[in-house]
Order: sequence, then C-alpha cells, then structure tokens
Amino acid sequence: MTDMKWTRKDLIGLEDLSADEILFILDTAEEFKKVNERRVKKVPVLRGKTVINFFVEPSTRTRASFELAEQRLSADIVNMSASSSSLSKGETLLDTAKNIEALQVDIIVMRHAASGAHQFLAKNLRCGVINAGDGAHEHPTQGLLDIFTIRQKKKKIKGLNISIIGDILHSRVARSNIYALLKLGANVTIAGPPTLLPKQFEQIGVRVCDNLKDAVENADVVNLLRIQHERQRASYFPSIGEYASVYGINRESIKYVKRDALIMHPGPINRGVELESEFADGDQSVILEQVTNGLAVRMAVLYLVAGCLKTN
Ligand code: CP
Repeated sequence: MTDMKWTRKDLIGLEDLSADEILFILDTAEEFKKVNERRVKKVPVLRGKTVINFFVEPSTRTRASFELAEQRLSADIVNMSASSSSLSKGETLLDTAKNIEALQVDIIVMRHAASGAHQFLAKNLRCGVINAGDGAHEHPTQGLLDIFTIRQKKKKIKGLNISIIGDILHSRVARSNIYALLKLGANVTIAGPPTLLPKQFEQIGVRVCDNLKDAVENADVVNLLRIQHERQRASYFPSIGEYASVYGINRESIKYVKRDALIMHPGPINRGVELESEFADGDQSVILEQVTNGLAVRMAVLYLVAGCLKTN
C-alpha cells in the first residue's frame, strides 16, 4: 500500500489528484472490499458523522452505492433531491448548502448538472464535498471504480491499452477515466463520431480515433459510454441506428475486439445502441463487477475525506 497521508477534505475530480493519491484510494478500497465480503458488512469508522446525499440530477447506481457505503461505515444519512429541496423555490445552491452545513452535516455528496458546482461549494464550506457527477466535467468515483475493476482483472494499469468509445464530449466519466489512466501510465484511446470527439485530448497524450476498428483492435479494455440524449442540444450524428452500426459493439464489430479484452460500461446502458445485450451480459463484460466495486471505492473515499475534516 502507498505510504501516504490523505489531506483533502473534498473529492472534486481526478484531474487534481496525483498518481499516488489515486493509488492510495484504490488500495484503501481493497480493504473495504474485504469488509463487503464478510458476513457482517459493517464497520464503525463514520459513527457520529452525518452525510447528506444531495442529488439534483437522476441516479440509480451512484446514489444507491453512496447510501449503502455510508450505511456500511455507520454514518447518519439524509437523502435530498432537487424537487424535495428549496432549490425548487428559487433558493441558491450556496444558500441551500450553507443551511445543510448549519445542521452540522460533515460531508455533502452531490450530483449536479452544472460543471464546477462542487468546486464552488468546496471553497465556501467547511464540510467535505464529494462529487457524484457534475455536468460534463467529472465523475471521480466512477473513474476510480472503473480503474479499480481494471486493476483487479488485469493486475496492472501501466502499459494497458484502454479505449473509451462514444459520446466523449458530454461525458464526465470519460474525463475522470482519461485524467486518472494517463497518470497511472495507461495508453488511452478515445473514439466516436467526430462531433462528439474533442480533439484537445490529443494535447494531453490521448490517441483520438474516429474509426471503431482502429480504436478497439489492440485494446485490453473497451469502455463504452452512453449516448447522453439529455445533454445533446443538437443532432451530433444522423440517427441512433447509424451510431449503433458504426460505433456500437455488436456481432459485426466484436470481431475486432480481443478475446481477453474487458467490456465495460458505466451504466445506464442503451441496449442495442452502444452495446448489444449479448455482449453487455457476455463473458467479457465486467459491468456488474464495476457496480459491486463502486461500493468499496465509495467507502474508501468517504473514509478518507472524513479523516481530514476540521470537525474531527
Ligand atoms: N454510472 C452512473 O453514474 O450511473 P447513475 O447515473 O445511475 O448513477
């Protein structure tokens, strides 16, 4: 395990973290994975701490995973959504957050549609802020659980060829993966329709490909991203059918994927668009293992953040 001390009260994004910090979270998550394999899956490390889960955008996996992680760490939990909060009456995000903090909440786990919302709150609050997804910026715990799963399966990250396919432009998952994988020495390729493929990633060492075959044929990992209809304000490709046939993993394109490559997806899957069901559920898929590992990763993040709060 990396010999270091965690010093951040917030987890905003993986771009900010060093390779050692990322490895420290992953190694800590290995310990929590063991807790999750016990008969009694509960430890008292967050006893006396209060965590609020504030999801201003929909979520299934991340929200349930954080809530379960907090329960397993023995925290007190409050769940709040945008529609049930006074945001819907016009209260500002900062006023809402300051009022939450006044209730002596220790950590706010938040998902928000605005990129940068967490950075803003973290600067203005004493409590910890954990990013559960901000707009098209970052989704750090998803990036961490993806990398945790890759390391578990491939026993390393350095030198692996990892291809991320799909709507890179709107993807916070892609950004968190790219920043962290590059720091850990992976070779990262991105591919998708040219309109959804920001070329500036080339400047930080990412291979940018507009051809699925070239992108996946040497890949050790193929991570498919969801087409995010809710963030697309224009038509970025002619039709869903064309996207599926050119960039989807299906019976035709699976021929280019190595037999031992991992097939990943952060969920929710548009079945039959980015990934045909037989490959989403096939023997190369680690999609549900990603979800399982997310619990250990989120326990690790909550534990580390709680450990450096001024309220301790
Ligand atoms: N991967 C992910 O963030 O899924 P949810 O939107 O369901 O949380």
